Amino acid sequence: MRQVLYISTAARTFEARDADSIRAISRRNNEADDVSGLLYFDGKRVLQALEGEAVAVARALARIEKDDRHKAIVILSDRMVDTREFGDWSMAYRAPGSDAEVFITRVSDLVAGASAMVSATFNSFAETRRAA
Ligand SMILES: Cc1cc2nc3c(=O)[nH]c(=O)nc-3n(C[C@H](O)[C@H](O)[C@H](O)COP(=O)(O)O)c2cc1C
Repeated sequence: MRQVLYISTAARTFEARDADSIRAISRRNNEADDVSGLLYFDGKRVLQALEGEAVAVARALARIEKDDRHKAIVILSDRMVDTREFGDWSMAYRAPGSDAEVFITRVSDLVAGASAMVSATFNSFAETRRAA
């Protein structure tokens, strides 16, 4: 199973309707490809984990890289894992200016079953972005 973690930056501030459309398209594509993971985004910064068969993850990444709603994609980690760390695909979206504590707790709940490396990456990212 291939697992990729990347960060990126929104080309412009994501509104709730951008979040809704990305959520709907991603869920459809990822379910069809059996890709699981977590998409964090807070209006400006993105952190996403994707995992599944290597070809399916490569296909998802190719779609994501083509999307000009975000830029400066940097792969943080690309490795093979024995088992999935995320049971399905989910998204944690924080509308700009909304409550940081609720969001940080939600992210922490969503990564509770993941490896130490993955959960620390998400939790510290959410913490660093507290003031977003
Ligand atoms: C931050 C961000 C994360 C995304 N994550 C995914 C994803 O996990 N899976 C996916 O299929 N598309 C994702 N997309 C959307 C793709 O970039 C692309 O718009 C979509 O896959 C096109 O799907 P379609 O060709 O079926 O219309 C993401 C887009 C952004 C901006």
